[in-house]
Amino acid sequence: FPADRIRNFCIIAHIDHGKSTLADRLLEMTGAIAKTEKNKQVLDKLQVERERGITVKAQTASLFYNHEGQQYLLNLIDTPGHVDFSYEVSRSISACQGVLLIVDANQGIQAQTVANFYLAFEAQLAIIPVINKIDLKNADPERVESQIEKVFDIPREECIRISAKLGTNVENVLQAVVDRIPPPEASIDDPFKALVFDSNFDHYRGVVANIAVFGGRVKKGDRIVSAYLGKTYEVNELGLLRPDEHSTGKLFAGQVGYIVAGMKDVKEAQIGDTLYLQEQPVEALPGFKPAKAMVFAGMYPMDQSEYQGLRSAIEKLTLNDSSVTVQRDSSLALGAGWRLGFLGLLHMEVFNQRLEQEYNASVIVTAPTVPYKAVLSSAKLIKNRRAVQKNMLYIDDQRVMMKYLFPLNEVVVDFYDLLKSLSSGYASFDYENAGYQAADLIKMDILLNGRPVEELITIVHRDRAYSSGKAMCERLKDSIPRQMFEIAVQAAIGSKVIARETIKAYKKNVLAKCYGGDITRKMKLLKKQAEGKKKMRLIGSVEVPKDAFINVLKRK
Ligand code: GTP
Repeated sequence: FPADRIRNFCIIAHIDHGKSTLADRLLEMTGAIAKTEKNKQVLDKLQVERERGITVKAQTASLFYNHEGQQYLLNLIDTPGHVDFSYEVSRSISACQGVLLIVDANQGIQAQTVANFYLAFEAQLAIIPVINKIDLKNADPERVESQIEKVFDIPREECIRISAKLGTNVENVLQAVVDRIPPPEASIDDPFKALVFDSNFDHYRGVVANIAVFGGRVKKGDRIVSAYLGKTYEVNELGLLRPDEHSTGKLFAGQVGYIVAGMKDVKEAQIGDTLYLQEQPVEALPGFKPAKAMVFAGMYPMDQSEYQGLRSAIEKLTLNDSSVTVQRDSSLALGAGWRLGFLGLLHMEVFNQRLEQEYNASVIVTAPTVPYKAVLSSAKLIKNRRAVQKNMLYIDDQRVMMKYLFPLNEVVVDFYDLLKSLSSGYASFDYENAGYQAADLIKMDILLNGRPVEELITIVHRDRAYSSGKAMCERLKDSIPRQMFEIAVQAAIGSKVIARETIKAYKKNVLAKCYGGDITRKMKLLKKQAEGKKKMRLIGSVEVPKDAFINVLKRK
């Protein structure tokens, strides 16, 4: 296929603005899939994606489109729709020369519209604004066009108004892809060079990497090298995605497709990495970053007998996701488990949901934490405000865009839920990593009758210590049964107690309920009490049931 008749593009949008619906229409119109109800959202494959209506893993499709007597190869590179995956979005974008920027005709510009626009703008791509859902009763495309002009400085005449649902004007989108997006500047005479923008694990063939070929050619049997790890592989299989794999035995400059080369782990084909031929080494493409976990949580089997099962489920899931980090961990309270690192909160939730749905695993997930760098010096004493306003722009008379610098810790807990409920669902939110900053953090202990409980040590911001210590004491009080003596539940910073709850003494006599001489009933009750005790942990003389730890450590 001549490179001047190739177009590589992706669709970017805020969640729910209709990216998948438009992708489906484009696939139908170019004959890549049949036009039936069943094919709704072919590009969203995972069950979680269907349920949540969000794209987690990018899927790609090559479309053939006839325009003015010429056949064009249009490579549609799907991008994940959520901020947690913005690095993956930026890599998908760098495989393209243009983007369709979708904006909902009713909702207008939202947080991820802006974030995604800048990714495309910084990569200097052609940007085609598409206003979707014009069929809606309260659609206001005029207003959205004004927003696009004001915020992105794109003339309103360039906007295409469509209804992806009904198919209205979607043909114009395909024409704009051909007319407004430049072909890739890739020469078949250059040495082979390809960008990995996605990878999946397949049990029979190993890693299947999605690549965009930036130069040269590659065929079955070639020996290729991945730049990041420097390992060499033999190409076993390769071809186009339509969107199903369509083996062609070779790929050329400008094309987008898949490649299988005996890689055993997705960490060998990381997103953003470069592939080249062993005999023709080239410089790696810029912008590669190994995935970096930002949110951490402990995961433990509900029961230690399920440890092996959970381990194999976690292994299988991480085979497909090189961005999850896994470390063995154990907690006195929860037993053996793992500490997993994720790109963000949604990433963590999706992983957890997949464990439960696809592997039937029951997991205890601890409250998420974020990484800190501890600097042991007096500079930590600097008092920091928790959020700093960076700038503010009125998009129109109804919407304002505000930028703040926030500690990630404040965002992971319940910020998003709060924002949504305060704004009755109208506000939207996006974030990017702004690096580490000094903060006034302290270690908080939880004490039971004066003894510290190792598994409940937490790091909190000084301003939050009181409320968080109080909440932990209350949760513990509710989950520790009364015992023969009074129990003081305290939160402390160093030697200073900042919160306290008291569990009153109570003489528990299980036999009290037994009247008469029913000996079997008596034995049963004694046995039950003994079993109950097994699930207890002694801290000093206080018996703490396992559930109490779970209630305090688990996410609410
Ligand atoms: P993510 O994958 O989460 O980014 O969402 P998305 O942008 O792919 O949105 P999706 O295509 O799933 O559409 C979201 C909702 O909007 C669905 O319920 C669609 O049926 C609906 N929708 C999409 N396009 C249109 C349209 O043109 N008109 C109307 N009325 N609804 C639409």
